[in-house]
Amino acid sequence: MQNAFSVGELLWEPRRVAEAIGSGIIYQNLGEQQRKELDEIPKAEFLDKVIGALMDPKPLDICMPVLNAVLAAQYCEVFRAMNLPTKLSVYEPCVGGSTPVIIAAEAHSEGRANYLTINLNKKLLEELKTKIGHLRMAVRIIEDNAQRALEHLQPDSIDVACFHHAVNDLLQTAVSEPRGMDTTAVDWFPNERKMIEWLAEDVAEGRLEQRGKPELMQVIRDAVGFVRPGGYLIFDHFNWRRFIGVDWFPWDLFYNLIPMTRRWIAESGLPVTEVEMPGVDRQWWMVLRVSE
Ligand SMILES: C[S@@+](CC[C@H](N)C(=O)[O-])C[C@H]1O[C@@H](n2cnc3c(N)ncnc32)[C@H](O)[C@@H]1O
Repeated sequence: MQNAFSVGELLWEPRRVAEAIGSGIIYQNLGEQQRKELDEIPKAEFLDKVIGALMDPKPLDICMPVLNAVLAAQYCEVFRAMNLPTKLSVYEPCVGGSTPVIIAAEAHSEGRANYLTINLNKKLLEELKTKIGHLRMAVRIIEDNAQRALEHLQPDSIDVACFHHAVNDLLQTAVSEPRGMDTTAVDWFPNERKMIEWLAEDVAEGRLEQRGKPELMQVIRDAVGFVRPGGYLIFDHFNWRRFIGVDWFPWDLFYNLIPMTRRWIAESGLPVTEVEMPGVDRQWWMVLRVSE
């Protein structure tokens, strides 16, 4: 099944994305449960749900099965726009229980990709394993801190490193572990508010430069070294409109996570150049090409 997107087109056109997740390239690479959830959505509501999932910040009435499939379609179109090889090698730090990058790699490669993640939280990895039994591509899951990635990956061995909604994950771990939370063992989501409050506290007190930034930048710097010259790093972050104005939630920080990371990378002098893509909002996405 070919990816219906053509290079040079506007990315993420809603009707094309709806087709990809409703019956096309993404749908065909989903697990049975994820397909069933999409099948149950009334046809008349499908396109509106896709349009909602493509909005940033995300609206209140988001449909999660559609959002997850839409994110996979977005990654898949970016892979195509970057002209990545069919048999691509993917590195994803901090996958948790989420499948968008995995499904995009499976779809883009028709099951011939190599995918590797480094992730700490055990429960989320168990959840992930229940969703990926159907995959044909080679998947390697390493339970470790992504700051130790040099022990697991070789230089110039990866076509694309995907930081899918992972900047906040890395910052949250960096501020929570020193405060005594074992982020490997905790149930992530019930504990996430505490992690975010600690992150907000460190930002308010000007501590992010000492704790948070160094850990994030180390993982990014290592990833740049794993990506072959001419390969890419992709970052995305999204957020929910419902958090705007919520007193404990640091909206300004989360709204600006990608621009802040862009600035830190620019200041670091890493050998990357940003690639702009038609239709891709730089507030929420960043695509970097590693210099040759
Ligand atoms: C909520 S999940 C998010 C999954 C995915 N990035 C997403 O947003 O859909 C957060 C995951 O990031 C992992 N994580 C955070 N910091 C990490 C680090 N330094 N090394 C490895 N994994 C990390 C956590 O262990 C957890 O499994």
